[in-house]
Amino acid sequence: MKPSLTSLHLFVVVIMTLSISSSMITTAAAQTVTDTTGREVRNGGKYHIIPIQGGRINLTNENICPLNVVVNLSSKDKPGDGFYFSHYTRDAFLRTSRILSIDSGKKNVSGCNKSTIWTIPNAEAKAPSNLITTGGDMRKCFQVVNYPGVSRKHRTPTYMLQYCPSFCGVRVATKTCFNISTYSYKGVTRLASSGGTPFAFGFYKL
Ligand SMILES: *[C@@H]1O[C@H](CO)[C@@H](O)[C@H](O)[C@H]1NC(C)=O
Ligand SMILES: *[C@@H]1O[C@H](CO)[C@@H](O)[C@H](O)[C@H]1NC(C)=O
Ligand SMILES: *[C@@H]1O[C@H](CO)[C@@H](O)[C@H](O)[C@H]1NC(C)=O
Ligand SMILES: *[C@@H]1O[C@H](CO)[C@@H](O)[C@H](O)[C@H]1NC(C)=O
Ligand SMILES: *[C@@H]1O[C@H](CO)[C@@H](O)[C@H](O)[C@H]1NC(C)=O
Repeated sequence: MKPSLTSLHLFVVVIMTLSISSSMITTAAAQTVTDTTGREVRNGGKYHIIPIQGGRINLTNENICPLNVVVNLSSKDKPGDGFYFSHYTRDAFLRTSRILSIDSGKKNVSGCNKSTIWTIPNAEAKAPSNLITTGGDMRKCFQVVNYPGVSRKHRTPTYMLQYCPSFCGVRVATKTCFNISTYSYKGVTRLASSGGTPFAFGFYKL
């Protein structure tokens, strides 16, 4: 029996609907990251991380190596240290939910000659092993993801960070990606994969 025109037509419509909806899912998953003024964030560019609750992000000024990443909630004057976010692709702009590397850029801070690439020694362990440090030997272990509820509340593009060790060759038992939140100890707040409310931030270009 020859297929009728209507069933063929229906088939074509179903196929078209499926391909349109799958391409919509793909575009919803990865979006261009924008800074606090709404401009696209450049792939490989230097940006300051601005905590949504205020304050600044700096490399630690303690004499330790590798270095930690410290949140100073009371600092308002300067935008803190700048960091390089890169997909290591030819894309012009940073995209959400795409693996990237974060590089402190500044070499030999406090005489620390380890690499300037961010990593987490052991994301499944307790502090200090789950703190973000420099000294990473694998690039592209992090991703920036949308934090939509918080974005709407603050009316500026707001993101959170995830550390995804399995994307950069580290085997972990539990999760693919760990949310980055803050961990406070003896009055110092650091970025870590310690669970709890994710750290919400915006990108700021000087
Ligand atoms: C936080 O920033 C303030 C103001 O810039 C500064 O006085 C204070 O020492 C900083 N705290 C830490 C722990 O770095
Ligand atoms: C944070 O970084 C900025 C820029 O590098 C620097 O001027 C400032 O002194 C640093 N603050 C602290 C508390 O380390
Ligand atoms: C790194 O810093 C230390 C101490 O601050 C200094 O003695 C050393 O010469 C520096 N090394 C380089 C390669 O700049
Ligand atoms: C890095 O620093 C350590 C200790 O501070 C030192 O022993 C080592 O020689 C340094 N390496 C380089 C390549 O500078
Ligand atoms: C990361 O944080 C988001 C927002 O709070 C939450 O919905 C999600 O379950 C968290 N994911 C993990 C792996 O903890």
